[in-house]
Amino acid sequence: MALLDAVAHHTLVLACFITPCKTYPHKDPILGLDLFIENFRLLNKGGFLDKLSERYYRQNAWTYTQLLFREKVINTADPENIKAILATQFTDFQHSPRRKAAFYPTFGHGIFTTDGAEWEFSRALLRPSFVRSQVGDLDIFEAHISHLINKIPRDGSIVDIQQLFFALTMDTATQFLFGQSANVLVEGEPSARGEKFAEAYDYVTEIVGIQAKLGQIVAKIPNKRYTDSIKYIHEYVEMYVQKAVDFAKFGHSRSVHDAEANGRESHEKYVFLEELAKTGVDKKKIRDELLNVLFAGRDTTAGLLSFTFYILARRPDVFEKLRAEVMTLGSERPDFAQIKNMKYLQYTLKEVNRLYPIVPFNARAAVRDTTLPVGGGSDGKSPILVKAGQAINYQIYTMHRRKDLYGEDALEFKPERWEHIRPTWQYLPFNAGPRICIGQQFALTEASYTIIRLLQAFKSIRPREGEGPLTELLALTSSVRGGVNIGLTPA
Ligand code: HEM
Repeated sequence: MALLDAVAHHTLVLACFITPCKTYPHKDPILGLDLFIENFRLLNKGGFLDKLSERYYRQNAWTYTQLLFREKVINTADPENIKAILATQFTDFQHSPRRKAAFYPTFGHGIFTTDGAEWEFSRALLRPSFVRSQVGDLDIFEAHISHLINKIPRDGSIVDIQQLFFALTMDTATQFLFGQSANVLVEGEPSARGEKFAEAYDYVTEIVGIQAKLGQIVAKIPNKRYTDSIKYIHEYVEMYVQKAVDFAKFGHSRSVHDAEANGRESHEKYVFLEELAKTGVDKKKIRDELLNVLFAGRDTTAGLLSFTFYILARRPDVFEKLRAEVMTLGSERPDFAQIKNMKYLQYTLKEVNRLYPIVPFNARAAVRDTTLPVGGGSDGKSPILVKAGQAINYQIYTMHRRKDLYGEDALEFKPERWEHIRPTWQYLPFNAGPRICIGQQFALTEASYTIIRLLQAFKSIRPREGEGPLTELLALTSSVRGGVNIGLTPA
């Protein structure tokens, strides 16, 4: 059997040599600088994602290669190939070395930044913290959302709600992870340290994003603000880690002040960090994992909420239908089951995740010579060869908008389509396979809860006048360029 597999594999590899996939028609066929310059420009001014889609349509292919300097990079928006990368040939691919290099100084070795056995260890370590009872704890969200609502003008004047969502998800994520919120949405002295942490964190992720895109040239430029920020972030997190480790050992080190600052006895609640401390892993490992999860969960959920409110402000039909569903609760807080039963709300979130995926593209590198199932030959249906080390970009944004997969109305925002579609490998906002997003339930619960509470508190919504069309802001994840500037009328 093993021999048969080997022969089949060899045959596939040979097939790839005779059926190469399409190559981008570069103006600069040596280094591919034309595409590099165009990408750089669009990443800075917006429009990058639609250009990516346009290139696929122009070439009439869902898989093609392009040059990045001398490297031959594969691009794909084909569900078959993406399934192979993420699941059926999972061990053939890893995260790209460039991404890892950008992440290590701040985020160290954690679930998001490692591969192989190291990643397996992290995944097993963190999995118990993401069971439903932990992520279904809605009390974590309630206090912070009320702070957010307090920041919204009552006279209907314009506010950038995206900025508030980024503050909200920082507050909720730090509460869940450290047991003490950064409290960015609360003004005043007690949150000054948290605010400084949030500021440092925002700056560092911006730089990491640039390094991940442009490589180590940027990392070599001395940047004191960057190194100081990393130092502050580490010290801030280490302070909580030390307390949790002491708590795990002696059971009483959490100071009274912490519990008071939280407005509750914090050790009665599930605290991610405390559970990690109980496992006995070392302090550096705990710090790295906390920062990895903070990174994975904070900007993403804020992005999802931001795109949702951008749409709601421009689609009164969707807003009305959604609010009608939400108001079946009156002003009561929803529980987990009620959230899951709000069908139109869930469809709306699915549709936002389809048209505006927060991780719109992603990359892997092959760890050995291998193949991908489709993209070769004149009809694009033959396997293609992937060489060890070769980079592959997979573009979820393009795949989610394909008319052959979603119908002629693929570009329309239509939550109702989810009444009758059940896509599998064509729909991957949270990734799939062994590295599927571990926080998906947390994210959807937080987003749903926030939308419900906001729609209970406000009866109408309008966009700022004179705004141009929607363009994305691509850092490490996607958000709305220029913010989500809306006016809300209290209920
Ligand atoms: C709308 C919100 C979210 C979206 C769209 C999202 C999407 C994703 C995607 C696409 C990946 C795969 C990345 C890759 O392998 O390259 C991922 C991984 C991950 N996500 Fe999420 N995520 C969201 C929220 C969250 C939240 C709230 C948490 C935690 C509280 C979280 C924790 C993680 C972790 C730890 C990983 C790494 C998993 C692994 O590699 O094994 N995510 N997420």
